Amino acid sequence: MGASRYYVTTPIYYPSDRLHIGHAYTTTIADSLARWHRLKGDEVFFLTGSDEHGQKIERRAKEAGTSPQAYVDAIVATFKDLWKRLHIQYDDFIRTTEPRHVRVVQEIFQRLEAQGDIYRSQYEGWYCVPCETFWTESRLVDGNCPDCGRPVEWVQEESFFFRLSKYMPRLLEHIERHPEFIQPESRRNEMIQFIKSGVEDLSVSRTTFEWGIPVPGHPGHVVYVWIDALTNYISAAGYLDDPDRFQRLWPADLHLVGKDILRFHTVIWPALLMALDLPLPRQVAGHGWILTETGKMSKSKGNVTDPIELIEEFGADRIRYFLLREIPFGQDGYFSREALIERSNADLSNDLGNLLHRTLSMLHRYQEGVIREPGPEEPLDRELAVLATGAFAAMDAKLQQLALNEALEELWKVIRRGNKYLDQAEPWALARDPAQAPRLARVLYTVAEALRLVALLVAPFLPQTGERIWHQLGLSGSVHQARQDQLRWGLLPAGTVVQKPEPIFPRLERETEEEPAPEPAAAPAPKEAPKAAPASEEVPEITIDEFARLDLRLARVVAAEPVKGADRLLKLQLDLGAETRQVVAGIAQSYKPEELVGRQVVVVANLKPARLRGELSQGMILAASGPDGRLGLVTVQEELPPGSRVR
Ligand code: MSP
Repeated sequence: MGASRYYVTTPIYYPSDRLHIGHAYTTTIADSLARWHRLKGDEVFFLTGSDEHGQKIERRAKEAGTSPQAYVDAIVATFKDLWKRLHIQYDDFIRTTEPRHVRVVQEIFQRLEAQGDIYRSQYEGWYCVPCETFWTESRLVDGNCPDCGRPVEWVQEESFFFRLSKYMPRLLEHIERHPEFIQPESRRNEMIQFIKSGVEDLSVSRTTFEWGIPVPGHPGHVVYVWIDALTNYISAAGYLDDPDRFQRLWPADLHLVGKDILRFHTVIWPALLMALDLPLPRQVAGHGWILTETGKMSKSKGNVTDPIELIEEFGADRIRYFLLREIPFGQDGYFSREALIERSNADLSNDLGNLLHRTLSMLHRYQEGVIREPGPEEPLDRELAVLATGAFAAMDAKLQQLALNEALEELWKVIRRGNKYLDQAEPWALARDPAQAPRLARVLYTVAEALRLVALLVAPFLPQTGERIWHQLGLSGSVHQARQDQLRWGLLPAGTVVQKPEPIFPRLERETEEEPAPEPAAAPAPKEAPKAAPASEEVPEITIDEFARLDLRLARVVAAEPVKGADRLLKLQLDLGAETRQVVAGIAQSYKPEELVGRQVVVVANLKPARLRGELSQGMILAASGPDGRLGLVTVQEELPPGSRVR
């Protein structure tokens, strides 16, 4: 397959405030796609940047007692710092205050004016000063701004206009002929409706502020937002400076934007490109909003989630994984710490971390940490090999549809299959019989090789994790240097010495409350696949005497009530025959207090008492934990007296 060129962009962000998790979302998607294409061997150009002009920034700088340039310089430094911490590997960062950009904007303006696509007229309208927004008469609510409710002013201003309306028939035709141009489909229909409802010419200059690119030949006018901002996608690609490079890069393959600015990218931008006689980008995709529990993030609500704090606490890859895995592209999604912790524990610790840890520990325990020449391949091994080698194509197909969450799900099928493979192949049983050494070598080879592919395939999404797996497997170089040809099965050389396992994703404590009983010994199975939890090989064998140290008793629930302020906890009074005990159990999400009264349960009666949310808990009741976190209390089939020993 010949390598191709892949040009992907994020919006250029306003340096009026610090970035929040919503901005990190777009950029993480773009970075993952860019890295994926690098893995494919494509020539990638991944562009991000900052949109630095405008009245808002002018005003902010004034309030801060500094110049607009100094103001944006400081904020742009925080952008770059965030991208570094999130392991965003962009190829270029365009700032709209850079000369290479200013020159292009001015030249375009002049050219469009010369060809009659920009003309001078009067801009009139109702203007809301605090919101900096013009409104048509029909949108006003009781004569006031529909957004903030404050009075609006009638403003008249000389302005230049771009003949946007002229290009609408051609644009409509383009959108209809190229179903892939606007994603997702629902937004495409919205845009078609919008264009059909009638689009007016666009005001593209202002005289009311100064912090902008001067309109050439018309002192007092600065270029107004959209011509300035959108043009970044061509100025950074060398539109005027480097025609050869521009020729190679343009048109962009994908503009990733939030749904709020999709219209600018699918109506104004294509019209400008048509006016300039340039081809249109292949695709513009609008993603949904990241919401927090208190709704859309906004400074005034004080619910802005700072990605730097999150990265410091959880690490970049947990954040990236959550953003990519949790929210289907195009839909709004909620960000919460609790959901992040759950995702991370289920997929990253239990599935991925566990697979790596089990594999490396067994390689050390049974083969001195060396990948040995494997014995003959059996159908069970083949099955994992086929799944792992097929993952690349399956993921690639999902990524072409921007279904990043599903692409990761494809990869996790391999990871979960890897865990199941170990359970079925039972290397620990093979290790007991020296005659089985070639078979053991095959099993450990198969799972290590699957992990090598997992490292390659996970690296575009979780760059540090891919690298850590790569190194723990004893592979040389960087996973990020590797290309698609490394995805063939069987390239892991016998003789490779693996590292000691280092947990890549230690389990995180849930925050809602302390987790008392029941905490199953086996890792809970993933949410999506209702299957048995893997029997964890990592739990060491115990002797019958060790088991006998557990005092398990049958008890009857005589009373149950919720624990205040802890939505997972129930306080139970248990009849153990000779005594009544209080036990606090984390089962409130699966059982209502009234369902429990009268039931027989099994208690670890000699567990050291503990206090949970201030309540004394003298023991722990047993339950199995199902794939979706649902619990099943352990009970006995027969009615027996409370206090009966369980063994
Ligand atoms: N400067 C313009 C873009 C010009 S592109 C030629 C701009 N900047 S912005 O900083 O306000 O927003 C940039 C992007 O962040 C937009 O795509 C917007 O949708 C996105 N997001 C802002 N808040 C968001 C969430 N809460 N969730 C997801 N994306 C969010 O607009």
